[in-house]
Amino acid sequence: MLTLLSGSMLLHAQDPAAEEGESAEAADRSATAALPERDPALLAALTADLRQRYSKSAKEWPTPEIDPGVVYAELSTPTIPAGPPDNPTSPAKATLGLSLFFDPRLSGSQQISCANCHSPELGWADGRSFAAGNFRRTLKRHTPSLLGIGHAATFFWDGRQSTLEDQATEVITNPDEMAGDPSEVVARLQKESEFYAPLFTKAFGDATIDFQRVVQALAAFQRSLKVGRAPFDKFIAGKPGSLSDAAVRGLHLFRTKGRCLNCHQGPMLQSDTFHNLGLTYYGRKYEDLGRYKVTGKPEDVGRFKTPTLRNVARTGPWMHNGLFPSLDGVLRLYNAGMPRPRPKAGQENDPLFPKTDALLKPLKMDAGELADLKAFLEALNEPQVRILSQPFPPIAPSQGS
Ligand code: HEC
Ligand code: HEC
Repeated sequence: MLTLLSGSMLLHAQDPAAEEGESAEAADRSATAALPERDPALLAALTADLRQRYSKSAKEWPTPEIDPGVVYAELSTPTIPAGPPDNPTSPAKATLGLSLFFDPRLSGSQQISCANCHSPELGWADGRSFAAGNFRRTLKRHTPSLLGIGHAATFFWDGRQSTLEDQATEVITNPDEMAGDPSEVVARLQKESEFYAPLFTKAFGDATIDFQRVVQALAAFQRSLKVGRAPFDKFIAGKPGSLSDAAVRGLHLFRTKGRCLNCHQGPMLQSDTFHNLGLTYYGRKYEDLGRYKVTGKPEDVGRFKTPTLRNVARTGPWMHNGLFPSLDGVLRLYNAGMPRPRPKAGQENDPLFPKTDALLKPLKMDAGELADLKAFLEALNEPQVRILSQPFPPIAPSQGS
């Protein structure tokens, strides 16, 4: 138990055992134990063959293992999205958005900015299982990374918002998160017109500061975040030395035996599809019904959006509830086919009892293959970002109270 989910054990110390994880770990042991060590000569031959096949253009890559009915998009390097017609991305808007993203004036207390939870040095996430909100209230979900978020069509783990602009409005006004009041936020920014008026003018053509422009600039900033500079991108751009042998084998496993491409697809290795990975905690303290709360459809109980895997090695702990403190734990549980909780007495006919996604199956990978898969995930790491200068006008202590 300790090796698989030690961090989550701490998290759920009072919970009658992290059952989902435990049953899966038993399956996990049986899935990996029987497999023989890989033969070095065979492994070298396999690696050479894969290097040759993946050095071609993606159209000629080996056929992936995709289940019938699943539409898939091949892995590739993302570009910066243009933004919607009513809010085209521009460098000037992104510059304004950067300041607003860091400016705690956007919160009711003037203590919390977007960057508190989406920190550039933590991969635009916060390194915590659950986010700490207004008055350090523990929120119910893990903070997702914002890298490449402009490629998504739905926002939040349950996809309840469909534009980045609306998403920003929700988080600023949510009493548990930033507890901001739009007119108060705008008034505070107007007071700093010496700093903000030129930025708004460059971004929108005139110096008017209103809430719609605030959320538009925040959205434009997020869309403009650079992504697609990982070793994997260099590899597909024709630099074979950018991926280690293990990562090349991992790329192939990701697309084939690992079945990952069924859900994590396209340039961002994400998709706006919702799946239940068996982590619902149904009927228990940490229950999260996910997508069901948005659609009201029983089949959506426990489904969450398929997140990006870009930079994923840097944005732990993982999953909507930050359950996994290590990527190895995530991969071992995928290998076991993820938890498949069974209804207890009295739950047999419960239409809301969560069902683990049929696309998840035991993968029968050995330890070497899991290490290869991890090497591929690590080859999706982006260059680290440092933002050292304070991009917003400082708040004097007397102003902040
Ligand atoms: C208190 C911590 C916190 C603050 C402050 C915060 N966020 Fe978040 N953010 C989260 C959490 C937690 C989620 C996931 C919530 C959920 O899925 O229900 C999230 C989700 C998001 C998402 C959706 C990502 C996805 O993958 O769908 C975006 C975009 C986002 N935040 C942008 C912002 C912006 C812009 C701000 C500032 C206006 C901000 N956040 C402030 C914690 C925070
Ligand atoms: C059935 C669709 C599906 C398949 C197949 C799948 N994933 Fe996922 N993946 C998801 C969803 C949905 C989540 C988020 C679930 C949650 O938080 O409850 C996720 C989360 C993750 C996370 C955590 C990301 C984060 O930011 O917290 C990693 C890492 C991951 N998947 C890797 C993989 C790998 C590697 C494979 C192949 C072995 C794979 N996935 C196969 C749907 C899938």
